[in-house]
Amino acid sequence: MNFENILIEKNNGLATITINRPKKLNALNKATIEELHTAFEMLEDDAATKVILITGSGDKAFVAGADISEFAHFSVKEGGLLAKKGQEMLFDFVENLSTPVIAAVNGFALGGGLELAMACHFRIASDNAKMGLPEVSLGVIPGYGGTQRLPQLIGKGKAMELIMTASMINAAEAKEYGLVNHVTTQEELIPLAEKIAGKIMNNSSVAISAAIKAVNDNFKDGINGFDTEIYEFGNCFGTDDFKEGTTAFLEKRKPNFPGA
Ligand code: COA
Repeated sequence: MNFENILIEKNNGLATITINRPKKLNALNKATIEELHTAFEMLEDDAATKVILITGSGDKAFVAGADISEFAHFSVKEGGLLAKKGQEMLFDFVENLSTPVIAAVNGFALGGGLELAMACHFRIASDNAKMGLPEVSLGVIPGYGGTQRLPQLIGKGKAMELIMTASMINAAEAKEYGLVNHVTTQEELIPLAEKIAGKIMNNSSVAISAAIKAVNDNFKDGINGFDTEIYEFGNCFGTDDFKEGTTAFLEKRKPNFPGA
């Protein structure tokens, strides 16, 4: 499959998606959002892909936001549809993937860029990264889940301030806030992501998928995450991975998970 705005590289179970519009600081236009949806869908269906990493090309930006030039003249109806379609197609879609998704934030992650990073299962950043939701400086609010996921990740008060002031925080502040898990140099960002992905891949992919679902259900309206946990926990007992994991432990050897 040929993409115009993204690159995909696969290596030993890790698939890396690079958003590749460096001249526009990797801003998310419609075509890029559609390509990302297709790529995530393909990788989710690919049994050989155990972890997905997403980053931006160049050394300046992860993603500098939704492409402002595309929506500057939208009507109320078009604006609403933009947010709805984008959330369904990319942001909610990524959050609910059963394959773990790590965002490697390599520079500016603003607006839709930070929203994309927040939709990933967790984030790491390079020390030049800058993050924020500057939408109110454009007369609009975050529309790709930012008003919901930022308070979930850093708490309501900090999120309110960041959104109202439209200001950016640096990587160290983002780590202090719990927005990113690790900060490293630009050179070490992808190696660190690969190291973490390697640790994830040693574990049962079936159990990891179940854990993602249970954790996500904590944040869903009308769904009791504890119930999901009970259900998914029980389900694990019927998997080959559980048999292998427990047998390997009792036999004092490393498990070799079949992933089923
Ligand atoms: N949408 C569309 N184009 C964007 C963009 C966005 N969100 N962010 C950056 N670009 C484009 C710029 O228009 C410029 O294109 P040009 O060279 O054709 O003029 C190019 O990317 C480089 O950006 P530039 O602003 O020249 O870089 P900078 O280093 O001076 O500033 C930023 C970097 C990130 C501070 C600045 O680009 C910016 O504020 N971007 C918008 C951030 C934003 O509000 N995002 C939320 C959108 S809802």
